[in-house]
Amino acid sequence: MHIDILTVIPELLESPFQHSILKRAQEKGLLTLQVHQLRKWAVNEYGMVDDYQYGGGAGMVMMCEPLTKAIEELSKSRLYDEIIFLTPDGETFNQKIANFLSLKENLLLICGHYKGIDERIREHFVTKEISIGDYVLSGGELPAAIIVDAIGRLLPGVLNDETSALTDSFQDNLLAPPVYTRPEDFRGWKVPDILLSGNHKKIEEWRHEEALKRTNKRRPDLTEND
Ligand code: ADE
Repeated sequence: MHIDILTVIPELLESPFQHSILKRAQEKGLLTLQVHQLRKWAVNEYGMVDDYQYGGGAGMVMMCEPLTKAIEELSKSRLYDEIIFLTPDGETFNQKIANFLSLKENLLLICGHYKGIDERIREHFVTKEISIGDYVLSGGELPAAIIVDAIGRLLPGVLNDETSALTDSFQDNLLAPPVYTRPEDFRGWKVPDILLSGNHKKIEEWRHEEALKRTNKRRPDLTEND
């Protein structure tokens, strides 16, 4: 999979992709990422990419021209499956969307800033609008990093244990069950006996029960309307 990201602050995206699972995904050649400075397509020599909004009001709006030039130039080398704009008024991101996007070949993520981007870009180029939650961030860079992380770990071959992405919380509309590691007894706080029993069938049943209990208690909405 290849992901291009358009941003006015590429520095914000330097570290998130250079560690752990995303680093491994790139080293294995399963994921390629390119972060592009939108100012490369600025309308003047000062790097202008935003302007005042028509009708008045505080906050600058990212202009049509730099975004259009960037999208059109990048589209010459790739056929994007989705051109995604990160915005608080988009569809709320979840595991289902991560799964859907992880099956694509080429994605372009557009990070908004200031007051947002000119609506005409949304109408004419953007195919999907995603929010990472009901709160407003100062830009789309952190949401883009979150989306790339959620997608990257789903690509086949990225995780060592092929099954582990499937047993994550949310993959089956259930939260994950509790997990424990050594020691068996820490300050008198014991690991549940069943996990030490070696009986894999019973352990799986216990985990499923715990996942159900946890989901019903914390996120009953996940199992409703199924
Ligand atoms: N940009 C600003 N806030 C955002 C959010 N909650 N989700 C996605 N992009 C955003």
